[in-house]
Amino acid sequence: MDIATTPTNPEGNPELADAATMPKEPPVIRREDYKPYPWLLPETRLHFDLGVEATTVAATLKVERNPDAEPSGELFLNGDSLKADSVRVDGEASDDWRMEGADLIVSLPGAKHTVEITTTIQPDKNTALMGLYASNGMLCTQCEAEGFRRITFFPDRPDVLSTYSVRMQGAKDQFPILLCNGNKTETGDLEDGRHFAEWHDPWPKPSYLFALVAGDLVAHSGPFTTQSGREVECNIWVRAEDIDRTDHALKSLHQSMKWDEETFGREYDLDLYNIVAVSDFNMGAMENKGLNVFNTKYVLADPDTATDDDFDAVEGVIAHEYFHNWSGNRITCRDWFQLSLKEGFTVLRDQLFSQDMRGEAVKRIEDVRILRAAQFPEDAGPLAHPIRPDSYREISNFYTATVYNKGAEVIRMMRSMAGEERFRKGTDLYFDRHDGEAATCEDFISAIEEGAELQLAQFRRWYRQAGTPRISVSQQNTARGFTLTLSQTIPDTPGQTNKGPMPIPLRIAVHCGETGSLGEEQLIVLKEAEETFELPLTGPDPIVSINRGFTAPVIIERAMSREALAFLAARDNDPFARYEAMQELSVGHLVAAASGELDEEERATGKRVIADAFRAIIADEELDDAMRGELMILPSETYLFEAMASSSPAGPPSGERKADPGAIHAEREQLKTTLGTVLKRELEGLYARAEAVPFDDPAGRGARKVKAQALALLAASDPEKAAGMAARQFDSAGNMTDRQGAMMVLAGLKAPEREERLAAFYDRFKGNDLVIDKWFTLQALSLHDDVINQVKALAEHPDFTMNNPNRVRSLYMAFAGNPKGFHDASGEGYRMIADVILALDPINPQTAARFVSPLGKWRRIEPGRAALMKAELERIAKADNLSRDTFEQVSRSLDG
Ligand code: TRP
Ligand code: ZN
Repeated sequence: MDIATTPTNPEGNPELADAATMPKEPPVIRREDYKPYPWLLPETRLHFDLGVEATTVAATLKVERNPDAEPSGELFLNGDSLKADSVRVDGEASDDWRMEGADLIVSLPGAKHTVEITTTIQPDKNTALMGLYASNGMLCTQCEAEGFRRITFFPDRPDVLSTYSVRMQGAKDQFPILLCNGNKTETGDLEDGRHFAEWHDPWPKPSYLFALVAGDLVAHSGPFTTQSGREVECNIWVRAEDIDRTDHALKSLHQSMKWDEETFGREYDLDLYNIVAVSDFNMGAMENKGLNVFNTKYVLADPDTATDDDFDAVEGVIAHEYFHNWSGNRITCRDWFQLSLKEGFTVLRDQLFSQDMRGEAVKRIEDVRILRAAQFPEDAGPLAHPIRPDSYREISNFYTATVYNKGAEVIRMMRSMAGEERFRKGTDLYFDRHDGEAATCEDFISAIEEGAELQLAQFRRWYRQAGTPRISVSQQNTARGFTLTLSQTIPDTPGQTNKGPMPIPLRIAVHCGETGSLGEEQLIVLKEAEETFELPLTGPDPIVSINRGFTAPVIIERAMSREALAFLAARDNDPFARYEAMQELSVGHLVAAASGELDEEERATGKRVIADAFRAIIADEELDDAMRGELMILPSETYLFEAMASSSPAGPPSGERKADPGAIHAEREQLKTTLGTVLKRELEGLYARAEAVPFDDPAGRGARKVKAQALALLAASDPEKAAGMAARQFDSAGNMTDRQGAMMVLAGLKAPEREERLAAFYDRFKGNDLVIDKWFTLQALSLHDDVINQVKALAEHPDFTMNNPNRVRSLYMAFAGNPKGFHDASGEGYRMIADVILALDPINPQTAARFVSPLGKWRRIEPGRAALMKAELERIAKADNLSRDTFEQVSRSLDG
């Protein structure tokens, strides 16, 4: 039979089986259950007949038995919401196949077969944005992690590598550009205004790296010549109206290609590199072989519409996806538990690239700030997991700050211990040994161990154990000199207790507080639960500078006087250590104040010391503004939340300190007011000096950063005057950084300037989605007393839609990250986010599930808010037909 009757699935559900919502309790997948796939797929041919409403996909799979696997007489093919129109084996229509849930199983007697399956899919109904979907009239794909099974039945797992040949055809006026992985081998016209293109990708790849794009696009092109002299055609594909905002992306791509040759010895391996910008996208970008698909947010940038930070983000994501060509594509992952193999390593590579492009110190500080804002809370909450997880229900939930950012930190520690040169020998060995394979984290560790000559037996615990280690530091002056006792504890996390000590590399120096002389730096590695290190004494009053450059992703607990911290903040020769001392100074004060531990006099002293440190930083002529700006950043409320709720979530149920977001917010605002008042003259001077620096000046970027900070502090002490300054800055701004900096301040004020400038901003940028996203975000993040009602009103705005992830995030992720709104004592903020999850889950489960973690913080918060948050999680859990994504996150958040 050619047109098969659809076998009903086991549940007797007449609808198509949807892998994301089917069983009430989705099964748990375990790392230890890995088995190789019984079949090899040397060749895959795909034929697409493209249409926005209906696309037909004819797949031809050449399969042969895998000699290294347990044999099977069946070919198991994953599917998700698919129906087979026909199944043929070796050229004959077959009825020797069945559906098992959403998957298709074909019986195969022999050692080698050709299997042909035809499916029809509906791209414009695909709101989950996984598989083949429509975006602004164009068609594109997203296959990682398990989206390919929404296109055709296939062994959709990363260890099945195949060589793909693709033919795509469709209406020429609707889809003038037809793109796929690899090289274009043929094109031609067909009847009825249709045309076709054929593509061949010579590099075997897993299905998650497949991509196809069809639409009305134009390219900004610029060739790159590789180190061995090959010319690569590089194209950035966008809608015609966006072409003028692609210079930065193309330049970043060329710089990445050059950097990877110089730094890791990696050269590009095709003659073509295509990047396509898409406005409906679940994440940042995707590294599909030779055809990266990007969220427009990480491609389009010009000074009028993108901030300095946006430019950096474009550079970083372009580099990240490019670097995946080796760390991810040439060497891929055996299974999804190994995700950090490609993601942790690639994040490290993009971080090192950006350090080289724009300065090591500031980039390092930014990366640590991200780690602390996103990963530390994850590690301390119910969703904590090791960088190599042991189990999951839905793999999309494990694209986390832990797998990505802590994964990068773990590899960075290996690099710190080996030194750059030996680390390079390790990565050379890894790339050499595993090229063309689907590898494991263990393969990576072994290669580094051997190539970089490190002993990593105990270090492997970093891959197994979740939780941020806490290091307590005590120092003793002895007759012979000076000793430092360090002890480590790793908090319990869901499913994990009694963890073993891990090697913790710490760069350290001992300064002399009395003479001010700076000590020499060395690297020590703490391996035991407790260890004592003898250090040279450089003079009386030793001040220890530890975890310089943030060599280890740990929390240092040390009792250090305000004076010692002020010394480090003003004088340490490691820029990260200066930043760290400033943070510690502020965190110590703010947490103590928010916990009610300070009387009025102590509170005043704390604020005075911080103000003095700020004054010194503003006056320090040796600092550039970019670094000055880092030193002037106050710890975020999220970070203070973590510091206040500093005990382990799985610890004893009573006697822990809980975070009080209301008190944190009040104290932090009060500190801003004090700084704005006491330092009025200095801040106004700083503002005036920064304002005079031209946009294109090399120092312009740092100047814009400190200008924004000065304005924010001045607004806390004299809102009326600051409203005037901000309005003036907004009106005269020639770039988005200044405009957004001004709007950020205005959005939080009750002033007529607020409404006027918000309207002006909207009118000017109406129709530019990325800028209108900023307009939503500015309001959702604002310090305004009425922020909850403002967000409710914005949800009714004609430009708001639940169907575009960027727009949803611009309003609601921003709001969930606004402690003042989200943690409002009424619980309205929690209710709003729970409502978003319930409304978004049927549309786009992957994006919906990302909103669960803010509510998962309930165990670490004061009891009143904790009860309100928990009640919202329970309300979500009761809903029918939750996706696998949201089900998993909600149940972990309630149980963990
Ligand atoms: N692998 C991609 C990256 O790290 C991210 C990614 C994973 C992704 N799954 C996705 C992107 C789903 C979009 C949708 O760059
Ligand atoms: Zn990645």
